[in-house]
Amino acid sequence: MKFFVDTANVKAIKEIDELGLCDGVTTNPSLAAKEGKGFKQNVQEICAAVPGVPVSAEVVALDAEGMIKEAREVSSWAANVVVKVPMIPEGVKAMRVMHAEGIKTNCTLIFSAVQALLACKAGATYISPFIGRLDDLGVLGMELIEECRTIIDNYGFESEIITASVRHPLHVAQAALVGADIATIPPGAIKKLFSHPLTDRGMDAFMKDWEKAGLKIFE
Ligand code: E4P
Repeated sequence: MKFFVDTANVKAIKEIDELGLCDGVTTNPSLAAKEGKGFKQNVQEICAAVPGVPVSAEVVALDAEGMIKEAREVSSWAANVVVKVPMIPEGVKAMRVMHAEGIKTNCTLIFSAVQALLACKAGATYISPFIGRLDDLGVLGMELIEECRTIIDNYGFESEIITASVRHPLHVAQAALVGADIATIPPGAIKKLFSHPLTDRGMDAFMKDWEKAGLKIFE
């Protein structure tokens, strides 16, 4: 399963990339708004920091014509831009045109299996079901990822599933277990993936025993 970093913060993206864990980046208008710089500058900085991987940047027009115009602009900013499009009728209309023009798309704000089906039929490169926001409502978000997997496999759609709105390590483990192609994860949650109290305890004991015995690797 690929790891995308769910942030618009260049420094955080570089840190995760140094760990070898940045297979892509997803941003959204709320994440971009936190960065205190122009959107174009921010997207170009991210694309330059991780040039070989897809970087999602969202359009904000609410009509298909406006979305297509914005998509052409945003995708001209760097070779690795993927245009994020909301799951609304105008978005679906716009995605068909983007697909025909060879613009890569990530259909966002997907909360049901039928929405996922619509995005796949429109030729979305990626679909982003939001699991954390479903969990917040008392609905099992991960079941939606399983449904998306089944739909894509049943019909051989080319869209890849990005498990989005990931909040904690269990979401990442479950996404991998049900066969999601990608999980997009906030940097803080990626760092938590390393943690286990038994690892810390084990490391502590190994280091103490080594030191007590006065052992060395380089004599
Ligand atoms: C994904 O593309 C979205 O940017 C993100 O995962 C949303 O996560 P949130 O529900 O934690 O805001």
